[in-house]
Amino acid sequence: MKINRSKVVIVGAGLVGSSTAFSLITQGVCDEVALIDINEERAQGEVMDLRHGIDYLNRNVRVKIGAYDECGDADIVVITAGPPPKAGETRLDTLEASKKIVRSIVEPVMKSGFSGHFLIISNPVDIIAQYVWKLSGLPKQQVLGTGTALDSARLKSFIGDMLHVDPRSVHAYALGEHGDSQMVAWSHVTVGGKSLFEILDDNGRRFSRVDLDQLAHETVKAGYEILERKGNTYYGIASTAVGIIKAILYDENRIIPVSTLLEGEYGVHGVFCGVPAILNRSGVKEVIELHLTEEEAEAFHRSAEVLREFVQN
Ligand code: 2OP
Repeated sequence: MKINRSKVVIVGAGLVGSSTAFSLITQGVCDEVALIDINEERAQGEVMDLRHGIDYLNRNVRVKIGAYDECGDADIVVITAGPPPKAGETRLDTLEASKKIVRSIVEPVMKSGFSGHFLIISNPVDIIAQYVWKLSGLPKQQVLGTGTALDSARLKSFIGDMLHVDPRSVHAYALGEHGDSQMVAWSHVTVGGKSLFEILDDNGRRFSRVDLDQLAHETVKAGYEILERKGNTYYGIASTAVGIIKAILYDENRIIPVSTLLEGEYGVHGVFCGVPAILNRSGVKEVIELHLTEEEAEAFHRSAEVLREFVQN
């Protein structure tokens, strides 16, 4: 009997990579998780720590030290390696350091005969995802970044807090750069299927103090807020990455705002941006093109142009 074993390789066994691995095994998402890190001792320690708890988990997941030449049978390679921004820096400031690290990863992975999906977490994620797509030569469907998936989850969390509803009952998108230039498509935010605008209109007094610009600002700043307090962010991005991995491995056709190559959608050509996309076993099956208002479309284009500037250099 041929057994199809699902295998996820995580490159970077730091806080983001190890949290992603922990989330994968606690949810029992795949059959095998392999960790690769330049600091082999660190990777070995994480593998040992992860394996020792298997007895109390829902299923036995094989957790091991990975190797680049063993990526040929991997379904997904997650790239988390890269430095967090220093105080006063933006994610864009980490580009050169991340590119250098990522180049040293993609080449040996491709040499292994890898033909699966790259999921990029390394920041600046949109530009790094585009860089990996170019380096790998894989079809655009097979290279995606976490994009504004985490930003959108943060936005839903803030709207849920404001309206006292479960964030999972909120549909909202942050779009564009996973960074300072991202924008919110407020015209498409719904809660329980009702437009946010209608909710605010119907409850004028109750929600008189709601400031949507402030909510959008808090969404942009959330990553930095966490960084200032704990020196890194990892649980939110790990949960986000595992949601994307499940959509691909389970062939879910789930719509998640990931960073993917635009080829005319939203009037943008040749840039990876955070947009809603249908994710399934093929990877990025299709981009969902929202009908943005004129103001939203301008904000989205501005964000795409910020990214294009870095991509071209
Ligand atoms: C964040 O916003 C890691 O960039 C990621 O938390």
